[in-house]
Amino acid sequence: MEKIVVIDFGSQYSHLIASKLRKLKVFSEIKSPELRPEELKEVKGIIFSGSPLRIVEPTAPGIDKRIFKLKIPILGICYGHQLLGREIGGKVRESKIKEFGKTVLKTQDKSGILEGLKDDELVWMSHNDEVSKLPRGFKISAQTENCQIAVMENPKKKFFGVQFHPEVSHTEGGLKIFDNFLKICRVKRDWEIPGLIEEIIKDIREKVGKRKVFLLASGGVDSTVTLAILIKALGTERVFAFYVDSGLGRKNEAEEIKKLFRKSGFKNIGLIKAENRFLKNLEKISDPEEKREIIGRLFIELWKEKIKNFAPEDWLLAQGTIYPDTIETAGTIRSERIKTHHNRAEAVKELLKRGEIIEPLAFFYKDEVREIGKELGLPDELVRRHPFPGPGMAVRIICSDFSFWQDKKINLPEELPLGELEILCQKFSLKPYLLPIKTVGVQADQRVYNKPVLLSGKTDWQTLQQVSSEITNHFKGLINRVLYLIYPETFDPKTLKLKRAGLSKERIFLVKEADWQVEKLLKEKGLWREIWQIPVILAPLSFSGLGETLILRPVLSENAMTADFAKIPGPVLQEIVEKLLLLPEICEPKKVSPIELILYDITTKPPATIEWE
Ligand code: XMP
Repeated sequence: MEKIVVIDFGSQYSHLIASKLRKLKVFSEIKSPELRPEELKEVKGIIFSGSPLRIVEPTAPGIDKRIFKLKIPILGICYGHQLLGREIGGKVRESKIKEFGKTVLKTQDKSGILEGLKDDELVWMSHNDEVSKLPRGFKISAQTENCQIAVMENPKKKFFGVQFHPEVSHTEGGLKIFDNFLKICRVKRDWEIPGLIEEIIKDIREKVGKRKVFLLASGGVDSTVTLAILIKALGTERVFAFYVDSGLGRKNEAEEIKKLFRKSGFKNIGLIKAENRFLKNLEKISDPEEKREIIGRLFIELWKEKIKNFAPEDWLLAQGTIYPDTIETAGTIRSERIKTHHNRAEAVKELLKRGEIIEPLAFFYKDEVREIGKELGLPDELVRRHPFPGPGMAVRIICSDFSFWQDKKINLPEELPLGELEILCQKFSLKPYLLPIKTVGVQADQRVYNKPVLLSGKTDWQTLQQVSSEITNHFKGLINRVLYLIYPETFDPKTLKLKRAGLSKERIFLVKEADWQVEKLLKEKGLWREIWQIPVILAPLSFSGLGETLILRPVLSENAMTADFAKIPGPVLQEIVEKLLLLPEICEPKKVSPIELILYDITTKPPATIEWE
């Protein structure tokens, strides 16, 4: 299949580039800059991504210059544009005026990459440096007020560079620019799901041969679609699926899954009850990466136990891994490890190395997986399910182990200029508090694990959006998540304490119930479909030392690589709060803790991740 390669210089946005190209029906793959030029021989076009690093730094990644001799069209974006300029004879320098955010692009020459664009185009800029001298054979095709060489082209060589980011939705003509590049590359537009299903089936049959396949199903979209396509390829007799009840799934999950699977015509489905085993291994663990490692290992242990009476050479383990799962865990050399996905835990990597794992959907994005599921005839309620992380509620329940919080060096609050934060928030009549818990984020394409800031005061969504991005921009590397106080209206921060709490049955029960209530209400209000997912987080923050804090994290997203926080209308939010406050009554006789605080996560991804841990 003809393809375009996106060379990833460490940008989270590389996935956006690749998925934009796929929307234009072209297969695109992400590769690291360490690749050898020979690997690109069959490729129809190359895109250099942006980067969190600055090209003027000595450690900035480069590229093998032989790539420029391959006679393949190249499009450089931001860092990639500067790299292209510098490597073939131009010059790069620090910009006098740095551009961040929406900028007007004045197009001058619309014969190539800018064909069909307006004279004034809104584009998204984010750069400290710029190309200051054109390489030989290049011309300038567009400028902005502060950037002379915003677009450069060498039509003869088919090399193009754009300083802005065409892959983000704020660049209105972004898709058109990619479309123009694809036309220039003369690449076949054959990346279409219905046709691809046959290819996946062929690959499965080849890889599995005469063996059987065993899948640990979670009931989520990815593993269910994997199961459906395996059955289509191999028939029901050779595919065995087990749903592992780790106790960390959603409320009534096991029952729901059974029903849905029956409806989808699946056979050979079993249940592995492992709630106690998961709990025993996790109850004292606070570190998110440790939780993920343990869960990944337990899944593999269960699999091995299940098939120990069979000859291993007769079996393969199948996983519902999708494309971003392979990259966010440092799938390419440059991208930092942000979170270990349970299907990339060490034990799994061992099996992968030995060729004992099959992942039929590892090349697809979530929207594509949903389309495959639909094509295979899976019911809408299954294909449309909100994503749910493999490690389940374990990564939505923040635990506090005092030795963990105190021993591990926390670079806050000593390094955080609290006065500065207060001044920034005063502008918006809001009061900030630094919370004594930690959460994972992704800033400058690297994992961060820091404390969130809570804001209180009367305001509107728009102000919250603005203040959230001002805080995370201003305190880069220090603050990666901002919350807003929903309940109670005000509080005395001196009385709020971190209580000792692990992964207990009671806390799991509480968060499952909260998650269930929120989802039910959103469905009733017709808001469920437009929201990508709404994790509900439990945090051990309490006034009395007995209660709990719930955090709502509703997000809008296209493929989970980037996300905006969703703004639930006030009256619906009010109803949600009322339901959550009633939980201890609803949950009787289990006697769960009272809800003392309800917060709303108002951070985009990046700098926060969707899940908290
Ligand atoms: P983050 O938190 O990384 O999440 O922004 C991106 C998407 O991935 C889901 N997620 C996971 N899914 N195993 C999974 O199968 C995992 O370990 C995992 N961690 C996060 C998350 O729910 C979101 O949709």
